Parts: sequence; structure tokens; C-alpha cells
Amino acid sequence: MIRLRLNSLLFLFAAVLGADHYDRDDFPADFVFGSGTSAYQYEGAAFDDGRTPAIWDTFVHSDASDGANGDITCDGYHKYKEDVKLMSDMGLEAFRFSISWSRLIPNGRGPVNPKGLQFYNDFINELISHGIQPHVTLHHFDLPQALDDEYQGWLSRKIVKDFTAYADVCFREFGDRVLYWTTVNEANMFAIGGYDQGLSPPGRCSLPFPNGCSMGNSSTEPYVAGHNILLAHSAVARLYKRKYKATQRGYVGFNIYTPWMVPSTNSKEDVIATKRANDFLLGWLLDPLFSGDYPEIVRKNAGTRIPAFTKAESKHIKGTTDFIGVNHYSTAVVKDNPGSLLTQDRDLIADMAIDLQPCLHPFYVCYDITLHFLSVAVEKRPHLPLPDQYPVHPWGLYGLLEYLKQVYGNIPVYIHENGSFPLSPSRTIRRQKIPRNGTLEDTARVEYMHPYIGAVLEAVRNGSNTKAYFVWTLLDCFELLDGFESSYGMCYVDLDDKDFKRYPKLSAHWYSNFLKGRKSVESHNIMKPAENSSVCLD
Ligand code: FCB
Repeated sequence: MIRLRLNSLLFLFAAVLGADHYDRDDFPADFVFGSGTSAYQYEGAAFDDGRTPAIWDTFVHSDASDGANGDITCDGYHKYKEDVKLMSDMGLEAFRFSISWSRLIPNGRGPVNPKGLQFYNDFINELISHGIQPHVTLHHFDLPQALDDEYQGWLSRKIVKDFTAYADVCFREFGDRVLYWTTVNEANMFAIGGYDQGLSPPGRCSLPFPNGCSMGNSSTEPYVAGHNILLAHSAVARLYKRKYKATQRGYVGFNIYTPWMVPSTNSKEDVIATKRANDFLLGWLLDPLFSGDYPEIVRKNAGTRIPAFTKAESKHIKGTTDFIGVNHYSTAVVKDNPGSLLTQDRDLIADMAIDLQPCLHPFYVCYDITLHFLSVAVEKRPHLPLPDQYPVHPWGLYGLLEYLKQVYGNIPVYIHENGSFPLSPSRTIRRQKIPRNGTLEDTARVEYMHPYIGAVLEAVRNGSNTKAYFVWTLLDCFELLDGFESSYGMCYVDLDDKDFKRYPKLSAHWYSNFLKGRKSVESHNIMKPAENSSVCLD
């Protein structure tokens, strides 16, 4: 409780003190800046060279999907050399990407696919030859479909063995050049979206959460999937320590999605509800890696629906992350909602006993937590006015970094994702597709990035052990929840062009300027994109 009060104060200070004027050199020498993507969103070539489907392929090719898919997307599989050149021109110091498990080991288990191996070796070598540090994620929402078919993927303990064998191949083949490994991207959102709300693959849910799922159990499955993710993560981290650490000297971390949450009022109920929200969204899957068990409130509210760790498992998972990877986009406001505990057949969201108030920016705050909250907001308040741009709450990122510092012993933190997607001018509830010939002047994104990076600097100055910042994302590729409707990219990709030409936007120029140590990175001084700014950023 004291900690929360302190945090509430801290974010107010940050709002006042946020660094407006800063240079690349103001950050510690070992701090890295980059951008990132993920295999399914970037590579395309979904059916080429021996790759087999992942659960995301199945999901987007099902009736539930609106037709957008990652079959080709930005064609990164063929265009990675050009993209690495673009990164290098921009001055990126690091790049975060994921390996497609079903490209490297088709069907999830068994022999390595030589063409998959070749692709990732080439990609990594290309990055390194341009002086760009690779940061690799092993599972970015894309479990091989074959393993889901065979034993329901993350719902089965069998996943631990297969995930560890896959990681072993990655460490063995790429670990001489890759030092930064993340086992699972957004483990919390993967479990909630895939097994509670059913809004992302494998699309499982049950009544009273009818999102058109044909199977699932929202009351238990997110907890079971989360449990197996933790066991698999720990097995992989221990494997690395045992077999590779001494020679490769790398790090293995875990990634979660982390909005910053603030109480709706100063009432005791809302303050406690905010702590509970943090215990569920962050603590549920982070605490066990530090203490060996779930937070008390999670165990209490989930009861027998959450698996218990045996003594041996508890020991096995404790201390198995070298860093916390966070994906942070926005801030939410929490209100106590004890009534949700009276719901029959409770799911994880009901167990949280909170209402996320859509008060700061109604639509997006809700959107960013899970699609469940999005649907609630749109349903209940279809007339909501939309904001002019993605909400800019850098104090939220500051508050989050302070929280992680205080609660998790100042372990290194990697900001794996932070970014925004400016609205299309039509400002409809369901965003419209950004026109292919839309503007490259994404001023709103710069107005978002500038204070967020400033907030990171403030946090670092205040002792946060944050080590890296990756903008989500480099290119406008396939978006997991939006297809091609949103544009998180610093570079536009012309999907109608046969070469999928890339065009850096204003934000790419601004970030590049900052990374190259040019002075005056204030928003009003941002460099305009050159007339024909396809690749050259100088
Ligand atoms: C995150 C995902 C990432 C991207 C962003 C917008 O949840 O990790 O792949 O889709 O959202």
C-alpha cells in the first residue's frame, strides 16, 4: 500500500519533470536503442521453403478473420537485406525479431529445416555485419499448429519438452552471435487473448465469454497455459545456464505486456484494486520467476482453477529470468468492482474484480488492455468521442519503470515495445485502413516517441536499470489485431508495389536524428522527410 502511494506521487513528479531536451549521449553508454518486429508479422513466405502453419496462420485463415493475413505481409523473408540497410541508415543499434518455430523446426519437433536455418543465419549475419545487435524472441504468439493439434499446445505439459528442444537448437545454432534471448512475448496477453477471451489464437474461450469459440474453458485455461509457459521458460533458461552460458555469455529473459495502471479515485478501494490489477497483469507471471509462487491475491481469487506449483517446480522457476521485457503502450484507470467476484464461471478478468475506466482516453485505454475491454467500451458507449491522436502519457512508462525497479529488485528491464498508431482522418470507431498513399508526416508518432524516450531517461536517472528501448515498429507490416488497418511503423510499406517499397516517415527521420546524436530533438525541430525519401536517411 505504501509502495502504491509512493508510485502515485512519483508519476505526478514525472509529469512535471519529464526530460524535454535530451541527446543520445545522455543515456548510459551500454543502453541500446532499436526497433523490432515479429516473424509472423514481417516475414511472409508463409508456405515457402518448408515452413508449416503456426496457430496464427490458422486463426487468420478461419471464418472469424476479416481476410487479412501474414501470408506475404512485408515480404521480409526476401527483403531483409534491404531492411537491414534501412536500419543501418537510420542508425539503429539493435533489432528485436522473433524466430518462426515452425519455419526452423517444421511441425514443432524433429529435424531442423535447413532453409529455415539458413534464413535466420543470414538475417543475423546481416544485422551483425551492419553493427546491429540482434535481440531474439523464441515465441511471439506463433506456436506450431501441429503441436496445438497434437496435444493442445500450451495447455499440455508436453510443451515444456518441445519448447526446450527448440530453444536448444536456437542457442546451438545462433548463440555464438545472439546474446539477448526472450523466451515468450507477452506471456500474459497470449494466455488471456488465446485462452480466456478467445480473440487471438488459438481462439479458445467458453461461456459466458461468447466470442464465437468452438471450444475452451475461460475459467481455467488461461491459468493452465500461463503455468506451462512459466515451466517452459524456466526449463529453457536453465538449459541455457547449464549448457551455453559459460561460452556464449548471453541472457535469457521473459516478456509481458504492461500498461501502467492508476486508481480512478483516492479511495482505499480503488487504490487496493489497482494493486490487485498489477498483481494480476504483472505479478501473475512475473512473481513466480522471483519468489517461486503466484501473488497471494491471484491464488485466492482463482482458487483451485490455478495450478499449484510443487516444491520442486517452485524451486525450478525461481530466479530464472535475467531481465524483464516489457511491451508498454498506454495507461489505464482502475476502479474497484467487487461485483465481478459474484459472477458464475469466473474467468481471469472477473477474478481481477476491477473495472478499467475508459476515462483518460476512452477507446484506446480499453483497447490496449485486451480486446475484451475494447468490446465492453464500444458496446456500452458507442457514441464515445475519439481522441485526436494516440494518448501520450509518458508518466505512465516512468511509473511502470519505477514500479519494476521497486518490486523486482531493480533487475534489468528491456522496453521491447513502445509505439503508437496515429488515427486515420476519418476517426471512425473501427479505424479505417490508412490509405496506401497516405501521409509520411506522422507528426503524432513523433509527439508520442519524444516524451516517452524522455520518460525513460528520467527513470534511468532515477536509478532504473532499464537497458534498452525498441520502437514498435520499423515497418507497416501485418498487425496482429488489425491486419493492415493500423500503421505502427516508422516506415510505410507500399503493399501495392511489386517490390513492397519502403518509405521512411517523419518519425524514422526524427529517431535517426536522435540516434545519430544530432542536437535539438525537440518535437518542433524535427527534420522533414526528404522529397523522395525511400531509403537514404542522411
Ligand atoms: C503487441 C504485440 C506486437 C504488436 C503490438 C502492436 O501486443 O506484441 O506484436 O502487434 O502489440
